[in-house]
Amino acid sequence: LPCTAEVRDDHLFIGGVDMVELAREQGTALYVFDEADLVGRMEAYRDAFRSRYENSDVIYASKAFLNKEVVRLAEREGLCLDVSGGGELACAQSVGFPAERVFVHGNNKTPQELEEAISAGVGRIIVDSRIELARVSEIAGRLGVTQDIYMRITPGVEADTHEYIRTGCEDSKFGFTMLEDFAYKCVTDVLAAPNVRLAGLHCHIGSQIFALHSFREAAQVMVEFMARIRDGYGYLIEELDLGGGLGIAYTADHEPSSIDDFAEVTCAAVRDFCGEHDLPLPRLLVEPGRSLVANAGVTLYTVGILKTLPGIRKYVAVDGGMSDNIRTALYHAEYEPVIANKAGQPRTEIVTLCGKHCESGDAVVIDMPLQHPDLGDIVCVFGTGAYNMTMASNYNGQPRPAVVFVRDGQARVVTRRETYNDLYARDI
Ligand code: LLP
Repeated sequence: LPCTAEVRDDHLFIGGVDMVELAREQGTALYVFDEADLVGRMEAYRDAFRSRYENSDVIYASKAFLNKEVVRLAEREGLCLDVSGGGELACAQSVGFPAERVFVHGNNKTPQELEEAISAGVGRIIVDSRIELARVSEIAGRLGVTQDIYMRITPGVEADTHEYIRTGCEDSKFGFTMLEDFAYKCVTDVLAAPNVRLAGLHCHIGSQIFALHSFREAAQVMVEFMARIRDGYGYLIEELDLGGGLGIAYTADHEPSSIDDFAEVTCAAVRDFCGEHDLPLPRLLVEPGRSLVANAGVTLYTVGILKTLPGIRKYVAVDGGMSDNIRTALYHAEYEPVIANKAGQPRTEIVTLCGKHCESGDAVVIDMPLQHPDLGDIVCVFGTGAYNMTMASNYNGQPRPAVVFVRDGQARVVTRRETYNDLYARDI
């Protein structure tokens, strides 16, 4: 639940704002973010790491949820920003986010995106392959600069999560593989490449991870790799970026670790393994996305159609679906819904919240408890702050929802709803 959620007279309030009234004013589907919750998590992450490990930074993985306002908040809270290409970088630049705090990711950044990033003066480019190394080196040379880079390593850690969002295992399109010692051998090329400086190493083992020992294992592999680079190449790696991936609770049966526990395990692991290998402590970075924003966001819908299939299920159709939340169709993601105008009542029915799109797989919530639904009810789906808005589409000509931030009884639109005109504005 967003931290400020409460029930008053059967209505759900978030940030002191009545979700039922907000839905009526702004229309649905609507993304709503609890700003105090969002900022609170940014602060919690920063403080959890800084208090345990002085030379650390938190990089917000903007792919989870991106608009100008969240970049401004990240800026104000002293976070760095992970962008996965030119489009996300453009958002950061549009609000004057300091380029030196931008980290550029992606397994196939185009030469144009690399040039945009290098000429913007981004802090670090996370190099994903040998081919990309040559591109970065060439472009930096042409622009007359030296670019700080990280090497992304595939540490071969199997994180226990959905296979589509597992990235650190050996069969992965991301990073330099450690198979046949490839990554280690490539350090020769990295150190020899002109106009780049190897500032650090990066790994990201996956997303929605509950088992903290996976992060410890990844830290171990990475620190051992740093030690080998020192011993074999006489080169000291100064920065270590362990990626994101901390899981969150989408439903009451999920038991995720806290930000503090994640920080404790990560910082201790880096300290322990550096101690074992007699390495000076590197600057430590993490790149949370989901665990910063998912629980701060909810989606509001209006119930439009009800259908009961005897002996099968009850369909509650809402005015959105896979266009604003592809995660259910794609990963069988689970969410908990509540009827915002009946929030104080018990959830007595098992329903499927389906969308309005022309596909049977179009559902937001499958077989979950809900209050007795009636036409016109406002449904609030929790935990939709990460990877919903950024993965939204215009399928079936659906305009993408507005984004509203709520705080202290005030609501402000930070991204307006898409219009029909927007939909076809690019057509010739
Ligand atoms: N760093 C890198 C390099 C990443 O690729 C990602 C996420 C993160 C950090 C942030 O990970 P997080 O803390 O959010 O787990 N669309 C999927 C999730 C894909 C994650 C992609 N990379 C979903 O909706 O579950």
